[in-house]
Amino acid sequence: MNIGALYRSLVDEDFKVLAALEKALVGREHAPVDVVERLSGIHGGRFLTTLRRLHKMRLVRREVVAGATMLRLTYLGYDMLALRALVRANVLEAIDGRVGVGKESEIYLGLAPGGTRVAVKFLRIGRASFRQTRRLRAWARDRSMTWYEQSKVCAEREFKALQELHPLSALVPRPVGYSRHVVVTEFIDGVELYERPELEDPGRVLDLILETVSIAYHRARIVHGDLSEYNIMVRREDEVPFIIDWPQYVYRDDPTAPDLLRRDVHYVVKFFNKVYRLRVDPEEALRRVLTPRG
Ligand SMILES: Nc1ncnc2c1ncn2[C@@H]1O[C@H](COP(=O)(O)OP(=O)(O)OP(=O)(O)O)[C@@H](O)[C@H]1O
Ligand SMILES: [Mg+2]
Repeated sequence: MNIGALYRSLVDEDFKVLAALEKALVGREHAPVDVVERLSGIHGGRFLTTLRRLHKMRLVRREVVAGATMLRLTYLGYDMLALRALVRANVLEAIDGRVGVGKESEIYLGLAPGGTRVAVKFLRIGRASFRQTRRLRAWARDRSMTWYEQSKVCAEREFKALQELHPLSALVPRPVGYSRHVVVTEFIDGVELYERPELEDPGRVLDLILETVSIAYHRARIVHGDLSEYNIMVRREDEVPFIIDWPQYVYRDDPTAPDLLRRDVHYVVKFFNKVYRLRVDPEEALRRVLTPRG
């Protein structure tokens, strides 16, 4: 069953028990069944029936720890809580199919009230093994944080970065809302740069990317830190490039910022040189990025 159909199949009591479990989980991975029951306000047979249903739908997991039955929330269960909050906040009306999957996220097409398309990004930190290195900093890999806290921190960071960048005319998806580990943004109808789309004017596309890097650096005072052809989407209708995937950004005064900025700029310039046969000097591009514009 897809996420949207699953969401629609849930009833009020399911959400009550999920919300109670979430409450009981603050700072830990599992909570005793009786605590969840008490917090849910649903008791006895009705509680057990609900729990059984949630278990069958894989929204919770049961396990016995030191003789006591404990409950865990699964990513799917956490998804349902976030969707519910986003629907209630009028950010989302419906959720459709999956449009992208990253190392630590899944992206779905969503519909906002009024029918506008939005991208719904579910952060999934710590679920899969680390296939590639990524510059997520210590806070997001903090072993003392549970998976859902790590994912939540990343979602908050991504939303905050977009909120700072978007009003500055940086080319990033417009942030629409977030809840827990889920970030909702404008949907970009485009192609990822790694697919090497044919571009009418690759030089202009590169310039626009570097301009956004520069705006981020000088005006929002942040560095993306993971810029690559995988995190740039080129809009189909007008070849405007959007820089996506911001949770690992660092502030400009962070000791790692100069190296990350240099790496970001070099990486993207070299990609354009190789694929679109430009001859841009990466160091010159970096100097341009570092020069504030009027
Ligand atoms: N706003 C958006 N509009 C349309 N599609 C998007 C949008 N944001 C993301 N996508 C799609 O989802 C994919 C993954 O998104 P994103 O890069 O944000 O996360 P991520 O790849 O999980 O991060 P990483 O793999 O670097 O850990 C993108 O490559 C793109 O195909
Ligand atoms: Mg990505």
